[in-house]
Amino acid sequence: MGFGEPPLCEGWHWAAASCDLKRGAVRAIEVGGRKLALYRGEDGVARCVDAFCPHMGAHLALGKVEGAGLRCFFHGWRFGADGKCDEIPALDTRVRDVCLKKHAVSEQDGLVWLWVGDGAPTFAPPIHHTLVGKPRRAFRVARWKKKCHPHVVLVNAIDEQHFRTVHQVPGEALKLRTESIAPHHFRVENTGAPPETSWLWRFLRKLYRGETLTYEIDYFSAATGCIRLGPSWARLHLMFAVRPTPDGGAEGMTIALSERRRGIKGAIIDYALMGVAALAGAYFAVGDTKVFDTISFELKTPIPADRTVWTYVRHVEAQQRAHFWLDEHGLPRQLERFPRGWAAE
Ligand code: FES
Ligand SMILES: [Fe+2]
Repeated sequence: MGFGEPPLCEGWHWAAASCDLKRGAVRAIEVGGRKLALYRGEDGVARCVDAFCPHMGAHLALGKVEGAGLRCFFHGWRFGADGKCDEIPALDTRVRDVCLKKHAVSEQDGLVWLWVGDGAPTFAPPIHHTLVGKPRRAFRVARWKKKCHPHVVLVNAIDEQHFRTVHQVPGEALKLRTESIAPHHFRVENTGAPPETSWLWRFLRKLYRGETLTYEIDYFSAATGCIRLGPSWARLHLMFAVRPTPDGGAEGMTIALSERRRGIKGAIIDYALMGVAALAGAYFAVGDTKVFDTISFELKTPIPADRTVWTYVRHVEAQQRAHFWLDEHGLPRQLERFPRGWAAE
């Protein structure tokens, strides 16, 4: 039982860090093999369109932002915020029916999210369920690449056996339970309590005041994992947003989050908690990388302790796949959608 190849699952996928997309800037990005131009209009709004100009195919990231639209570098055709061509320098007559393929984007928690789907978004960008609708802070902990499929990175967060062997978490501390929330969303929660196997765990037991060892992860569209851990008086939040790279690997962002407390003291607490969350993430990343670099993932001989991994694989298989995202040759579909001749009156 393996993961197969991209295409992506329908849903939100990270496109860029918000801070890397300045007002008036346009960037080339590639998400799931599809080439795109991501830009921020002079109105501050991020927008995303297919990369190639519908006139002759120049990459629109070579162009420049004008107002809320884009002008192609090559022959200067201009496309408004709605994607429609509204000016062709070499043509006096009115332009019609030439339009860029636009994609819905949303900004949240310091990331620009791209909707991969046939129609308009049908759900909100990823966030752990306990932070939904709450004011919050976020900072980017790391941007990284791995040599394995994105799902291999994501499923690692619920691979119960490896916590014991790679990260030295006692077996009795982690007893994971899975729950399906929506077709694109499933949740894994720990039901185990900190054991008394060492002074460290006895210390953690005191911190948790008799609670279960909080470890929860919300998965969205098999592309993003939102983790909550820590005792109830010091919740830590981490997000792993992952997408496939053109060479068959994975690239991702790690974001630390916190509910926004008021005042300077509140901000200090928030950043301290996000710092601890980042350290926890770094601790659990150690040891996995050499596996990610060489693994040929296939769950051939599952045992009961693999049930969370098995559930993840089944969840991926049940996802709405974005087959339209690439054609059968692995090429973006946008060119065939556009008129090839003159499209002006
Ligand atoms: S290729 Fe873009 S205007 Fe000609
Ligand atoms: Fe791990």
